[in-house]
Amino acid sequence: MAQNKQRRGSRMERGGRWLLLASLLTITAQAAHKSDTGGDAAIINHSSMVIQRLQELLQNGNASDSTLRVRTSNSDEVKIIHTHQLMLILQSDVFEGLLGNQSVVTLMEPPECAALFEKFIRYFYCGEISVQLNQAIPLHRLASKYHVSALQKGIGDYMKTHLASESTQGHVVSWYHYALGTGDETLQESCLKFLAWNLSTVMSSSEWVTVSDDLMVSLLQRSDLVLQTELELFASVEEWVNRNNPNISIIEKVLRSIRYPMIPPSQLFQIQKQSVLLASYQHLIQDLLFQAFQFHSASPLHLAKYFDVNCSMFIPRNYLSSSWGSQWIINNPARDDRSLSFQTQLGPSSYDSSKKITWNALFSPRWLPVSLRPVYSESVSSGSQSNRLEDGRPRLVVSSAVSGLDFAGVTFQKTVLVGVRRQQGKVFVKHVYTVHQSTDEVSDFLVHADLQKRTSEYLIDNSLHLHIIIKPIYHSVIKAK
Ligand SMILES: *[C@@H]1O[C@H](CO)[C@@H](O)[C@H](O)[C@H]1NC(C)=O
Ligand SMILES: *[C@@H]1O[C@H](CO)[C@@H](O)[C@H](O)[C@H]1NC(C)=O
Ligand SMILES: *[C@@H]1O[C@H](CO)[C@@H](O)[C@H](O)[C@H]1NC(C)=O
Ligand SMILES: *[C@@H]1O[C@H](CO)[C@@H](O)[C@H](O)[C@H]1NC(C)=O
Ligand SMILES: *[C@@H]1O[C@H](CO)[C@@H](O)[C@H](O)[C@H]1NC(C)=O
Ligand SMILES: *[C@@H]1O[C@H](CO)[C@@H](O)[C@H](O)[C@H]1NC(C)=O
Repeated sequence: MAQNKQRRGSRMERGGRWLLLASLLTITAQAAHKSDTGGDAAIINHSSMVIQRLQELLQNGNASDSTLRVRTSNSDEVKIIHTHQLMLILQSDVFEGLLGNQSVVTLMEPPECAALFEKFIRYFYCGEISVQLNQAIPLHRLASKYHVSALQKGIGDYMKTHLASESTQGHVVSWYHYALGTGDETLQESCLKFLAWNLSTVMSSSEWVTVSDDLMVSLLQRSDLVLQTELELFASVEEWVNRNNPNISIIEKVLRSIRYPMIPPSQLFQIQKQSVLLASYQHLIQDLLFQAFQFHSASPLHLAKYFDVNCSMFIPRNYLSSSWGSQWIINNPARDDRSLSFQTQLGPSSYDSSKKITWNALFSPRWLPVSLRPVYSESVSSGSQSNRLEDGRPRLVVSSAVSGLDFAGVTFQKTVLVGVRRQQGKVFVKHVYTVHQSTDEVSDFLVHADLQKRTSEYLIDNSLHLHIIIKPIYHSVIKAK
């Protein structure tokens, strides 16, 4: 006991000396800074050398006063790292507690964290760490466990900005599950958005089968999923069920989240006859299939008089197939105004299948509201006029060629996907805007796009990739008795 106290005493003294040295250095540094204002002041900068020396200290273990024994759980593997108490406790109160009265500490870590432990400790000596996609979770775990808050935040930011990075097995699903465990809601939301907006890509990747029950249920609730058709979603959900064998309550939930009215009747016949999943579970969705066929048999507006059409089943998601809208690739978009005409179905109901609508879209790279437009008088120089024009913002207006299309009971919502890019059949989406007619209705349409710059990340081969989707939204109208 007494011996222990003594050891502790000498450790404290040593720590005290370090700290004293550190504070002396601060004082001299401040003094040096003050006199900097003189005429011939210069900065002699050896900070990289000092960092180099500190790293050598760790590498060689010189003057080490503490030893970490890192054990890999479920294995006999032990890593020994000779460290310096001061370096560790500067950034981690957990290490401060651990090293308070012992110089040898045994730590137990899961294999993926143990494998990165030296890298993690090196960060304490040089404040720098390289992170790869598959290292983000174990490093974040270590930073959280040892309360290294700057590193924790750094890796969190890294994850938020690297969702779209190319990786062989995909990483966003595992990051979402990790964020759920740590309660990081911002990261959860970023991951969910990424998965929803790039769903076609995710569904065709090996990541899809790693989606958890809860994540699948929350994804299927969303109306902003970007995918080819609802049938594609059904097929992918079936594959997910086959591979994951979830329990019956989950199967019921996911099957009931499919929006059957958005699938044409001929394809509904097909899945009823050919889906192995429905062969066993059709009874769980009998009522939904019946409603879907009812929807296809009459005008949606007629249906709305008898049934509630204001539920998610009748709300289209962001379908990329051509009956719902059109892709629009605008080359050199900053140059001038462009227009596009395209046709869509009147709506998803089979009753309307022969009816088409023509839409006109107008894109202006630098549109100004009337109130901001230059007044064309003699006194206004052409220079200031063009300045004004530079202030304009990108704008997209989509209107139907026939007027009076919005009648009681239905509105046509326009969704604009930006940055849709197909690479080896993959679809990528950067932004989703939903408007009634014009992007003036949203304040941030392409606001950071920098269309003038060839290097803008919104331009693929100097073209802006848009995809416009027309979605009829049905309202409940006055009920027929
Ligand atoms: C000293 O040099 C390092 C790189 O070697 C640099 O990051 C740092 O900003 C420099 N400090 C000053 C005060 O110029
Ligand atoms: C640190 O240790 C290495 C190897 O043990 C030795 O070569 C080196 O001289 C030592 N450096 C200092 C500054 O003591
Ligand atoms: C360190 O010592 C304190 C009392 O001095 C004790 O409560 C604590 O458990 C000790 N910590 C370790 C890791 O041994
Ligand atoms: C979808 O993927 C693209 C490219 O990989 C990326 O730029 C975009 O941010 C992703 N969407 C979301 C919502 O994260
Ligand atoms: C089904 O699985 C979910 C989690 O995946 C669980 O919360 C639920 O209790 C399970 N239900 C049954 C009936 O086993
Ligand atoms: C549709 O239902 C939602 C909530 O379920 C409600 O907020 C909205 O006002 C309804 N819209 C119409 C047009 O009935």
